[in-house]
Amino acid sequence: MGTKLKFNNIRKHFFGVTALDGVSFEIEEKHTVGLIGENGAGKSTLMNILGGVLLPDDGDMSLDGEAYLPSNPRDAARMGVAFIHQELNLFTNLSIAENIYINSFPNLNKTPLIDKKKMNDSLKSLLKSLDLNYSPSTTVENLAPGERQLVEIAKALHSDAYLIIFDEPTTSLTARETEKLFTILKQLRSEGRTIIYISHILSEVKHITDNVIVLRDGKVTGSSETGSIEIPEMISRMVGRESDNLFPERSSKPNNSPILEVKGLSQPGIIGEVDFSVHEGEVLGVFGLMGSGRTEMARMLFGVDSYRSGSISIDGNPLPRNSPRSCIERGMAFVTEDRREEGLLMNVAITENIGLVSLPDYCRNLVKWVDAKRMNEEAGIIGDSLKLKASDIRRQPAMSLSGGNQQKVVIGKWLMKKPRLLIMDEPTRGIDVGAKYEVYSIMDRLAAENSGILFISSEIEELIGIADRIVVMSQGELVKVFEKKDFDVTALMAAAFREAVA
Ligand SMILES: Nc1ncnc2c1ncn2[C@@H]1O[C@H](COP(=O)(O)OP(=O)(O)OP(=O)(O)O)[C@@H](O)[C@H]1O
Ligand SMILES: [Mg+2]
Repeated sequence: MGTKLKFNNIRKHFFGVTALDGVSFEIEEKHTVGLIGENGAGKSTLMNILGGVLLPDDGDMSLDGEAYLPSNPRDAARMGVAFIHQELNLFTNLSIAENIYINSFPNLNKTPLIDKKKMNDSLKSLLKSLDLNYSPSTTVENLAPGERQLVEIAKALHSDAYLIIFDEPTTSLTARETEKLFTILKQLRSEGRTIIYISHILSEVKHITDNVIVLRDGKVTGSSETGSIEIPEMISRMVGRESDNLFPERSSKPNNSPILEVKGLSQPGIIGEVDFSVHEGEVLGVFGLMGSGRTEMARMLFGVDSYRSGSISIDGNPLPRNSPRSCIERGMAFVTEDRREEGLLMNVAITENIGLVSLPDYCRNLVKWVDAKRMNEEAGIIGDSLKLKASDIRRQPAMSLSGGNQQKVVIGKWLMKKPRLLIMDEPTRGIDVGAKYEVYSIMDRLAAENSGILFISSEIEELIGIADRIVVMSQGELVKVFEKKDFDVTALMAAAFREAVA
């Protein structure tokens, strides 16, 4: 079956926000198409319309020349369109099999009972082909985020979808899972399925797509064969101007007084004897492959996870163990890798989310009265500095923001604390190039005000672009420290792969 898909003049508004402003383009069957654009450009909204989650205000779509307008996801699935969401939406209290069969439970011999055995048996080989080594009856809450994503993929494959939408699939995947995903994508492609792939990692888009569609402010600003568009042009079509620098010039240099001092930090099986310090005004990059112990180390520093031996101090004062609260009191802040764990209050206004951890700072002493006006003002300033795309940040709930803009709220929440030491674990995942620049600028500004920043990332380029020094971790050990003058992609990679090379 052919799957030529046409969007014709699609429009969608949300209470005063124009998310899609007349979108038209076509997708040829069996093609893999990258859909890119800044945070809030309208990518997820368009895919929600294609996937039957939302109805357009205006415009129409066709599949193979036939009018196509799904009124719910089940409708879309029946027409062969599957949607793997940016925010995973599986029922975590149900099993893998129940999630996959959610729209079509098989009945037991014409009774209303569900034939669980049939359900589970039919999925074994499918799960295996995705390297998902669980019994189909396993409850989804026992799976890691990346594995949950594989369940969504299994669901799409099981429904035999011929058009599969991936909305930022690699955001919650580890490097190994990402690789697996790419293998699966290649396989899907060779089976002749049509794929729409949304990502902020333009090198991924360049690598795996046949065509690229660029959205800006709800309009198509580019449509080309991937081979004929280079990354800088993708960026300029996304942001509407020539892309100049990807990184701000650093405006200051670190000095010699340490803020964070880590000595002999160990937890058997996780990290061993780690020593380093972060100085005033320094952005210390941490590079390492997945499983190198970076995130685990950050969690120990912030008192979330325990460690067996070693010491951690801030400004010369040792930190008590297992107490994120005392870390916050000493001026530490932590943007974690796992957005879902960050606890955005989805129904609460954006400014209140930004003010959340700083609330005690805005209580007028004695009476427990929050100076909401001042808090809102400052949250507004933070929002502006991150170029948060929202229509009314005092009233709009966090839920109504695009994925990347929710991420900015998480960062904003910790910036509002004016941290002495900011730990950021993969802070730029899922945010667009413009917003990345804003995040780097904020790191630079904090450093210029003498704070210290521990910046964990898997993207070597951004570490080289903004860090003063980079430490490389491998298998729980700190294997090498690079001074700025020695920054070099190959050398950093070699250090991270230490074990593999040796
Ligand atoms: N339910 C909603 N209510 C109000 N506004 C919304 C809603 N859903 C989306 N929007 C707005 O529509 C615009 C487009 O959002 P969309 O989620 O499509 O962006 P996106 O391109 O997917 O961005 P990202 O890269 O951050 O995921 C944004 O301004 C967003 O705030
Ligand atoms: Mg989105």
